[in-house]
Amino acid sequence: MSSAIEICPSILSADFARLADEAAAVGAAGADFLHIDVMDGHFVPNLTLGPPIVRSLAKATDLALDCHLMVTDPDSLLDDFAEAGAQKISVHLEACAHLHRTVQRIGALGMEKGVALNPHTAFSLLEPILPELDFVLVMSVNPGFGGQSFIPAVLDKVRAIDAWRQAHNPDLKIQVDGGIKPSTIAAARQAGVDWFVAGSAVFGTDDYASAITGLRMAAG
Ligand code: DX5
Ligand code: ZN
Repeated sequence: MSSAIEICPSILSADFARLADEAAAVGAAGADFLHIDVMDGHFVPNLTLGPPIVRSLAKATDLALDCHLMVTDPDSLLDDFAEAGAQKISVHLEACAHLHRTVQRIGALGMEKGVALNPHTAFSLLEPILPELDFVLVMSVNPGFGGQSFIPAVLDKVRAIDAWRQAHNPDLKIQVDGGIKPSTIAAARQAGVDWFVAGSAVFGTDDYASAITGLRMAAG
């Protein structure tokens, strides 16, 4: 397991009419960076937001913007997200026919390179290009919606990635996304997660600072 944990509130659960205020509020509450769920209504059954809103958020907050692309054609959007101010990008392995090329493009645009794995997707499919990545996003719900229940079976995959990085690349970060709350975060931390996305567990509360502190404490 690597060192400090980072809490990444997901704006999917924020008030979309007040995104600048919500970003400022989680920044003041101790968030490490902001997770932005981009959904196209094809790869997942939901529609959210795109580069224009990321561009506005980049002006409204000092938090790094971590864009999770749940879209069928991420390649067509990478330049726009880089220009909009995204610092981290994750694309889904399941969406990319030429994943190595896509990852190279993310790096060439100056962004941190991440690949997301749906709950059913084996880590072994990613292993050949894992040395190229800055982070792996392990989905702990089926992507598309906030507020779903954590799927504990994905922790075996986290443990496999953790074992791989201890042998090959200690700088690789493991991010988990979906159903993270005080009752689930400790098991994920024990398995090797560094970055914790939390949507409803932060934005669904009245006190973002308490929610973020509570997650850190529960992680152990
Ligand atoms: C789901 C998204 C998540 C979502 C998590 O498709 O990728 O980032 O916002 O929400 P919670 O933390 O409520 O499960
Ligand atoms: Zn996400």
